[in-house]
Amino acid sequence: MSDFLSGWKRTHYCAEPTSQNVGQQLVLMGWAATWRNLGALIFIGLRDRTGTMQLVFNESELDRQVFELAETIRTEFVIAVKGVLVRRAPDMVNPDMATGEFELMVTELKILSKAHTPPIYIDDDLDCQEQVRLKYRYLDLRRPRMQHILTLRHEIMQSTRRYFADNGFIELETPILCKSTPEGARDYLVPSRVHPGEFYALPQSPQLFKQLLMMSGFDRYMQIARCFRDEDLRADRQPEFTQIDLEMSFVDEDDVMAVNEGYIRKLLKDTCDVDIELPLRRIPYATAMERYGSDKPDLRFGLELVDISDIVGSCGFSVFSDAIAGGGSVRCINAKGAGNALTRRQIDELTDFVKVYKAKGLAWMNMKPDGMQCSFAKFLTPEQIDAIHLRAGVESGDIVFFVADAKNSVVFASLGALRLELARRLKLIAPGKFELLWVTDFPLLEWDEDENRFTAMHHPFTSPKDEDIQYLDSDPGRVRAKAYDMVLNGNEIGGGSIRIHSMELQERMFETLGFTKEQAWARFGFLMEAFKYGTPPHGGLAYGLDRIVMLIAGTQNIRDVIAFPKVQTAACLMSDAPSSVDSAQLDELHIKLCLE
Ligand code: AMO
Ligand code: AMP
Repeated sequence: MSDFLSGWKRTHYCAEPTSQNVGQQLVLMGWAATWRNLGALIFIGLRDRTGTMQLVFNESELDRQVFELAETIRTEFVIAVKGVLVRRAPDMVNPDMATGEFELMVTELKILSKAHTPPIYIDDDLDCQEQVRLKYRYLDLRRPRMQHILTLRHEIMQSTRRYFADNGFIELETPILCKSTPEGARDYLVPSRVHPGEFYALPQSPQLFKQLLMMSGFDRYMQIARCFRDEDLRADRQPEFTQIDLEMSFVDEDDVMAVNEGYIRKLLKDTCDVDIELPLRRIPYATAMERYGSDKPDLRFGLELVDISDIVGSCGFSVFSDAIAGGGSVRCINAKGAGNALTRRQIDELTDFVKVYKAKGLAWMNMKPDGMQCSFAKFLTPEQIDAIHLRAGVESGDIVFFVADAKNSVVFASLGALRLELARRLKLIAPGKFELLWVTDFPLLEWDEDENRFTAMHHPFTSPKDEDIQYLDSDPGRVRAKAYDMVLNGNEIGGGSIRIHSMELQERMFETLGFTKEQAWARFGFLMEAFKYGTPPHGGLAYGLDRIVMLIAGTQNIRDVIAFPKVQTAACLMSDAPSSVDSAQLDELHIKLCLE
């Protein structure tokens, strides 16, 4: 033990003492969160990761030296105290504090470290820019809320490891310095000193390695794996994030889903005492888009999309009829009872809202008690209006919103987003609800307008459905994948698939993606070669750990669940990464900068 502590040993964390310790001498250590000097009495709130304990320094009962030392304590000084635990007088009990019934009558004090006035207020009520919090992250992390979230993250990781180990999964590590295999997000590259002009890539996920581990016979693998993707950041994305990654051999989709349903049930039980019913609902991708306008539907509320294309196909409203003639559709959402909740101005704001999703407008029908107001009624026959009312269950007090577009993707994206916005504005989301489901039967491929070719919707190693392989050459867009995403309250928390396990099918897949055989072998030859020597059917899944922690902790901000996160520009405000490096370092790496 260091000289500073001179033999003192902590007996308890600050929030640990209970009635049983009253009258005992305790040793506590931590930070002075608060101090009040009332002249002959000094009160300090001593904080550690468990909570705070009130310390009392009473001039009349203390050595003068100790009291004088106590007078010098300021916030964030690190101190150690010996004292006797006492009950507070009844009128001094603080019901908001876990240790509010007690206080420690201090007899001895050591100041272990002094502190400057901190640049941020260390309190859960702090109101300052996130940038300042991130610059002084080590101080921000002293706040009880951050300590709680990161401890929760630890508990989630422990519960995860226990579940998968108990179910026969072996935890294995895969490399961080990998081969660049671009197909997905952009890679982070690391130059090689000993191979001039060559680069490693940081892994976007351990996908290929975990498949190779199945070929090695490990049968069930799991890893809590750091992944790196150089992509545009959003509220739920970080350039470096953590996956709970797993893979299983000799399995089909049902087997992978069953193991993962057991996992998520245990996790929610362990960490927030929520019981979920199994099996989880499964909704095919096409149905999810039709009903919710999203492949990660939030099922905590209704507001489903209703297709009225057949009713308005030949109506006089060209916005509607042109969309349908152009191969698209007209769909609506009936916001039940919204008449009382939304003003005309708010309805207009929603028009601007859907424009972000490329909708050209938002038509509406407001069922006022004194009659219907509708932005396009004059173009429809009474029969058509009645048919819409019947189809969408429209009653007095409802507002119905319509989007028409020649591209169904625009109709789905805009109404899908409007559905969430309406639920928020109409306060339809009950707190504490957990609605989990699988989205299944994803398309294998999606058309990339920019690249003018098909790309893999999940990744190129995902197996097509057996019955759809026949369309791989003739109608690739029609092929569905053996892929599944787990969705919680409208967030994709995990996704996976059964993999291709034959070299021939994998070669065909690369061909469909527009690679020549040579290109495919140059990039993925090590995987294709491995297929030759005995490959079990296999499949797996990866969860976004950060997203799971966000949902369980109830925060919308992914930075809140990562100890040292990056900001929108992928920079670390605390350490100032990324930064320039010495020219000698660059020389060693055979790199010349060309900045324009
Ligand atoms: P996928 O790319 O869907 O699948 O990633 C799996 C899960 O990781 C989370 N996630 C992210 N979280 C934070 N920041 C990011 N930038 C980010 N990107 C993804 C999501 C997502 O569901 N190898 C496959 C999995 C497999 O097929 O087994 C993969 O990486 O919650
Ligand atoms: P306009 O004919 O442009 O004056 O539009 C009449 C109404 O239809 C307005 O309420 C517009 O917001 C709405 N509208 C325009 N384009 C669309 C569209 N693509 N989908 C739904 N409503 C639209």
